[in-house]
Amino acid sequence: MSKKIFISTPIYYPNNKLHIGHAYTTTLADFLSRYKKQRGYETFFLTGSDEHGQKLEDTAKELKVDTKTYIDEIVATFKVLWDKLGIDYDLFIRTTDETHKSFVKQKFTELVEANYIHEGVYKGFYCKPCESMFTEQQLEETKCPLCGREVDEIEEPTFFLEVSKFQDWIKEILETKNILLPAFRVQELTNNFLEDLKDLSVTRTNFQWGIQINENTKHVIYVWLDALLNYLSAFEYKEAPFSLEEIWGKDSDAEIVQFVGKEITRFHSIYWPIILKMLNLRLPSVYAHGWLLSNGVKMSKSLGNITDPIEMIETYSRDAIRFYLMTSISTGDDGKISNELVEELYNGILVNKYANLVSRTFKMIVKYRDGIIPDIKPELLDNFEITKNDFESKVDSFEYNKAMKTWISFLDEVNGYIDITQPWTLDGVDNDKLDLVLSTLINAIVNASELIAPVLIDSSKITLSQIDLVNGKLSSLEPLHLFERIK
Ligand code: MSP
Repeated sequence: MSKKIFISTPIYYPNNKLHIGHAYTTTLADFLSRYKKQRGYETFFLTGSDEHGQKLEDTAKELKVDTKTYIDEIVATFKVLWDKLGIDYDLFIRTTDETHKSFVKQKFTELVEANYIHEGVYKGFYCKPCESMFTEQQLEETKCPLCGREVDEIEEPTFFLEVSKFQDWIKEILETKNILLPAFRVQELTNNFLEDLKDLSVTRTNFQWGIQINENTKHVIYVWLDALLNYLSAFEYKEAPFSLEEIWGKDSDAEIVQFVGKEITRFHSIYWPIILKMLNLRLPSVYAHGWLLSNGVKMSKSLGNITDPIEMIETYSRDAIRFYLMTSISTGDDGKISNELVEELYNGILVNKYANLVSRTFKMIVKYRDGIIPDIKPELLDNFEITKNDFESKVDSFEYNKAMKTWISFLDEVNGYIDITQPWTLDGVDNDKLDLVLSTLINAIVNASELIAPVLIDSSKITLSQIDLVNGKLSSLEPLHLFERIK
């Protein structure tokens, strides 16, 4: 029986078009899903949009449009972006879907019945842009500790999720069970939030744009509880390849990898595991990546320092953008992106090391062997075995940029092999050696292209489709133009 993996991205707020920072999270998840599929896993890759909350209701009101109509338009742009970037998700979930809403109501009731939720009064400080509540102690000089903006003082009836009961449990789990990666994030989290874990206010009465609870129709569910439950409600949809039990059930041995940006680890690595524990389900691995910065600060629409991924894709191709995000940002750390940086990687690696290798080799096979691939056992096989093992171990430890560097080193070896063997001097002089070199080059190109296929989704496919190994020839004698920008 094949192994199963569930991979998710956070669900994005439809308050603006997405920028390259969001594309980063989703590219990591898409890479892993394609990579696992290539290795025979059955995969469920989930993404979507987080559509409730006061902020969206307010924006739609300001624009004098119906909230859902406003959101629909933005969500449509998300789907266009994922399509252009080649994101091969299985399900795009929306928290306004009826399936999700009824699931969330039902889970809320289950948590009430299990005595994990009780009614009370909430006093605290609310940051609308972050949709987050804070105690007075958590504020940074009266401002939101996450974004530094003004907060509103609030006192209202609410239902509380009794997370405080689980403070010691979650602390121990975080310290011993590797549920949050990279490991250095654990300390950050325990220092900042696990000294005094307060029960979480999980309903609101001051706005309507949310999921009403069965217990009291004046209350809608707090966006984070609503949003986190998407990772479970997704299994109610017909697109889900597995049942909830097969992934989240206590007896499951499926893998669960949830990608999040570092600022939302608090929700994914404290509250989320506690909710799962309350529901008697198993725990995921949460991978927290860094941010894409612009002039040293987090790229975000409200700061006006964003890069539009669609423009970049149109200039450089989606393969180039995916490759940049995978290669040039050390996975757990902050990174940056700009046209100059993408251009440098594009020319330095994709054109000079990959496309040139492919086009030179194909040209030689056409010129010296009329497109026939010599039927001889190739060299460099051991080198590729080492590359492949190294690549896989880097992927398994979430060091994606290092995996990409391993791939680049293999290209260096193969290009070095051409420099040493100088195949253009062998024609008519040592035909056996020329056959060996050409066979080796084709084999190396096949291996390199297959290895990088989860990243370079188009160019690897084009390259591989030109190599007809069954009939031992190139499928076309025409020159191949990879990464030749039309600009
Ligand atoms: N809706 C919540 C998530 C709920 S999941 C149950 C949310 N949405 S978001 O749209 O604000 O952000 C989603 C993801 O985008 C986060 O993982 C966040 O880290 C990521 N990014 C947003 N800006 C980013 C950068 N500048 N760089 C890298 N990732 C960034 O949070």
